[in-house]
Amino acid sequence: MSFTADRLLLFGATGDLSQRMLLPSLCALHADELIAEDVKIIGTARSEMTDAEFRNFAREALEKHLPADRRGGMAEFLNRLSYQALDATKPDGFESLAEKVGTPERGLAIFLSTAPSLFEPTIKGLQHAGLVGENVRMCLEKPLGTDLASSCEINDAVASAFPEDRIFRIDHYLGKETVQNLLALRFANIMFEPLWNAAHIDHVQITVGETVGLESRVAYYDDSGAIRDMVQNHMLQLLALVAMEPPGNFDATSVRDEKVKVLRSLRDVKEGETVTGQYRAGAIKGEAVPGYDDELGKQSDTETFVAIKAHVDNWRWKGVPFYLRTGKRLPERVTEIIVQFRSVPHSIFAGAKGSSAPKMVANKLVIGIQPKENISLNLMAKVPGLDRDGIRLRSVPLDIAMPDAFTGTHKRIAYERLLLDLIEGDQTLFVRRDEVEAQWNWIDAIRAGWSDHGQTPQTYTSGSWGPSAAIALAERDGVSWHE
Ligand code: BG6
Repeated sequence: MSFTADRLLLFGATGDLSQRMLLPSLCALHADELIAEDVKIIGTARSEMTDAEFRNFAREALEKHLPADRRGGMAEFLNRLSYQALDATKPDGFESLAEKVGTPERGLAIFLSTAPSLFEPTIKGLQHAGLVGENVRMCLEKPLGTDLASSCEINDAVASAFPEDRIFRIDHYLGKETVQNLLALRFANIMFEPLWNAAHIDHVQITVGETVGLESRVAYYDDSGAIRDMVQNHMLQLLALVAMEPPGNFDATSVRDEKVKVLRSLRDVKEGETVTGQYRAGAIKGEAVPGYDDELGKQSDTETFVAIKAHVDNWRWKGVPFYLRTGKRLPERVTEIIVQFRSVPHSIFAGAKGSSAPKMVANKLVIGIQPKENISLNLMAKVPGLDRDGIRLRSVPLDIAMPDAFTGTHKRIAYERLLLDLIEGDQTLFVRRDEVEAQWNWIDAIRAGWSDHGQTPQTYTSGSWGPSAAIALAERDGVSWHE
């Protein structure tokens, strides 16, 4: 049932995600008049707080995390907020919560940003208080399980109260402008699609580099590791968007149908096709940083870096490797996708006028997701000049910097898009159950392989691009990671 919610209920309202992303995004949507005046936001968490205290708490979060020029109408925004303390493990508290929510005119959107252990009791509590009707939709934030089995358990629990068309699973990468632009690049231009296949593409690289270390999420991260924290969700979503067939329409069913086909076509990874690493002390941009085990305060086998050579076993991608790498404490924060085309089949410039042949460099498309938001296509061009000994060629970038191409727009938080879609009920940029399960299926097999082969992370110095074996993983195939 389609409705635009007029109540938003935020579980985990005092948590880190709420402070850094959710409240700032909602305030920015308010400032841009993108949410109706009657939309009310009810925060809930364990701490006891009055409405006024919660508004104060929210004001501090906004002042810290939202640029001043995006806080227009902050006072009115804060007036939309109210708060109800709740222990989610006790069903009774949900009755007072339901009272606080009141009766929505159009519908209620619930956002669960809590520990996954609270998902089940929260769903039960919501059922108990009658907060699961046809005009209620449920949005879930990761981690949605730690493997396929636990993810199915969570999905079953949520499905006992909400049908799939009212479940919104967040992968915040899908809310990034540049990630959506990937679809525009592929499907709003004629020139790439005929070349977007194994006949013309040599390989694809996806890098998500981070300079941060453990941050404050010690217990979560040490349980999770890079493959479950970043590859299972964000990187596989990027891979699916790069590899999918053109959907019939830009709607939730068409887009997600195509993505899930890719995820199900991922080939099981063999021994030697993954490299794991864990950072040691080093320096990032000249600043000394401690090693993972120093930060953690104990030894651990958790990987903070992973590189994978993946394959999508279908007609389009047969034989095209997808090299994925992600890690903490790498030299820079960068997310980019590289599409490396094949070389021209024959160079007409070879040996012109008896000189040595100019080196041909194959075309390369670089899609910068963050922090640089750009699309750069490397083309061969003639070096200007009247050379007597034949034409000279060089690879030059044709570069579109998105902020320059679209002046007058501002950088948005990924959650702005996602919260707006949640309120309005558009699931296109949310992850469907079959996608999550296909993702876990592939990741579980990799992790089972690590445990069978006794693969433990190699060390790497903070500020480097991971263990040298990760470089060798690509170089064995004659491929260099894009720098
Ligand atoms: C989160 C991970 O999902 O994504 C974090 O849990 C990671 O470990 C973050 O730092 C990266 O997101 P972004 O938007 O900064 O690239």
